[in-house]
Amino acid sequence: MSLGPMPQHLVSIGDLSAEGIVEVLEVAESFAEVERRAMKKVPTLKGKVVATVFFEESTRTRLSFETAAKRLSADVLSLSVASSSVKKGESLRDTVQTIEAMGIDLLIMRHGSSGAPLQASRWTEHAQVVNAGDGWHEHPSQGLLDCFTVRQAWAEQRSMAAAGTGATLFEGKQVLIVGDLAHSRVARSEVLAYTALGAEVTLAAPRTLLPANLDHWPVQVAEDFEEALGRADVVSVLRLQAERGSGECVPNLREFTSTFGLTEERMDRLKPGALVTHPGPMVRGVEISSRVADDPRCLVTTQVHNGVAVRMAILYLLLAGPRLEAAAIGQFAGAAA
Ligand code: CP
Repeated sequence: MSLGPMPQHLVSIGDLSAEGIVEVLEVAESFAEVERRAMKKVPTLKGKVVATVFFEESTRTRLSFETAAKRLSADVLSLSVASSSVKKGESLRDTVQTIEAMGIDLLIMRHGSSGAPLQASRWTEHAQVVNAGDGWHEHPSQGLLDCFTVRQAWAEQRSMAAAGTGATLFEGKQVLIVGDLAHSRVARSEVLAYTALGAEVTLAAPRTLLPANLDHWPVQVAEDFEEALGRADVVSVLRLQAERGSGECVPNLREFTSTFGLTEERMDRLKPGALVTHPGPMVRGVEISSRVADDPRCLVTTQVHNGVAVRMAILYLLLAGPRLEAAAIGQFAGAAA
């Protein structure tokens, strides 16, 4: 359920209305402008304290959030769970409340259990919580940066400025998500974000890698992957989540690659202008061929780049209070730290 343009916590894409999603994308566009300057730091969140608390591995999300917070001049603390009191048996609730007691304004949490960030948001009195990926549930900042990257690429294809294009670029567009959908938190956030913006989403995977119950998912399932590829405007490729048991769902990797991997032959089926995304980390030669990963139509590096601006927008909108008009944000962002 939508809680308005920006909720107190960001646990799920479902916390945002369609207008809220567009607002994040538009504010991110302003921060992308800041990133293109020689001086990339702005004083917007000076005095705020942000903590990253990752109970699972991460390269992109953690560094991206920390970079975003530092570019906004927030103080950034990073809890290393491996050397924390969690190892002595401290509960998640006590850990969260201990962090909050230090005066942290916002806690960015990754956890292997679906629902852990939601629980954390209920245990804090003042500190806000951002879900940086929880179990099989959601990865909202990834879903938002994927939409931002696709929108930007389409805007460039149309030779028009991305700012002000709103959600309309997504209307009627076909997004095909392929891979380990059963275990993917990125898939859930992408489905919610893309459909809220007006795109139609199709899933393609072996039956064993589809979610057990799709009744409430606003998606269709591809009967024929090769045919669905030919209709797609965006192909979102997902990694097999071996750490969540995907190995038991496919007979062997070679068979998965030959039936659902994005190979060079399958790239030839894409229509002109179609885009490929991957949230990373990629396993080259399994869900995506190495050549496809390096193809200019594959936006994986652009996604990582855009992640900083999108996460700056998320932190700004959560921590800097009421909405400012995009123009005002541009002026605000214009002041160097
Ligand atoms: N896409 C993503 O969440 O990557 P990391 O696991 O490296 O953060």
